[in-house]
Amino acid sequence: MKRIYWEKAGPNFKVNIDCCNLEAISNIDDEFFSANSYAHGKDKFSKIIDVRKLKGMKVLDIGAGFGSLASLMEKFGADVTALDFSSRCAVFLRKRKELEGSNMSVLECDATDIPLEDNSFDLIVSIGTIHHIPDYRKVIDNIYRLLKPNGKCIVMLYHKSSISYYYHKIIKHGIFGIGLLRLSADEVVRKYSEDPNEGTGFYSHFFKKGEVLELFGRFKDKDVKIYGHPIELEAIPFGGLKLGKLVPEGLRDKILSKYGWFMYIQATK
Ligand SMILES: C[S@@+](CC[C@H](N)C(=O)[O-])C[C@H]1O[C@@H](n2cnc3c(N)ncnc32)[C@H](O)[C@@H]1O
Repeated sequence: MKRIYWEKAGPNFKVNIDCCNLEAISNIDDEFFSANSYAHGKDKFSKIIDVRKLKGMKVLDIGAGFGSLASLMEKFGADVTALDFSSRCAVFLRKRKELEGSNMSVLECDATDIPLEDNSFDLIVSIGTIHHIPDYRKVIDNIYRLLKPNGKCIVMLYHKSSISYYYHKIIKHGIFGIGLLRLSADEVVRKYSEDPNEGTGFYSHFFKKGEVLELFGRFKDKDVKIYGHPIELEAIPFGGLKLGKLVPEGLRDKILSKYGWFMYIQATK
């Protein structure tokens, strides 16, 4: 069931993988970096990945989707493996590789069972994927196993102690939508955390900071950072006005760095 969802969707239902050319790929990348607040807009993940240090590094992207980040890392000199279990993504990634003339390796497999050698990567990234995998502990086991000693991972997960979780999901859809009468809070959020017209039949887990620190317990130098998007506050109505628009920018950024929707953990093996 879950796999069927990702086969159909990949990271984006709207992308037509049949008319894949360099221009279409460039449009997909532009949209990826500008539309996904977690990608830090035109700065392209600059808050979490120092692309200048990637040269010569062996990098694995788990849940690479259509490969915007994987391709960016390769352009900065990394030796990249893009992994995804959706054949729709794998087809696209192979076309991208061919059109961009890249050396990227494409691996179509489940992140809970990765057929690669122990201690083989300097960096493993996984953005917006592991929270969709029920056996997420197995993915973390794989990350630990695959990293070289002192290798680093960067993982983005949905943040449970966030405005989005409590307001947009539980209050908006749970209480006002009376969803909570039938569903648990997590089930309500799961149901509405993607496009409700498309987002059925897939799993999401929402992580608290303490849970993540426990999950990455055997790693060292753990650092957790929260990011949010102004829209998370702006969407809250306040007497006909949008609450976020009334909050001064400095305060808004402070709130989002605590209660934003995206939790990034960086850790070292
Ligand atoms: C929400 S998308 C994120 C894609 C990309 N990292 C991004 O930031 O846009 C999640 C991706 O993970 C893949 N995925 C989901 N479960 C997986 C699993 N068990 N093993 C490997 N890939 C998986 C999906 O096919 C999809 O491409």
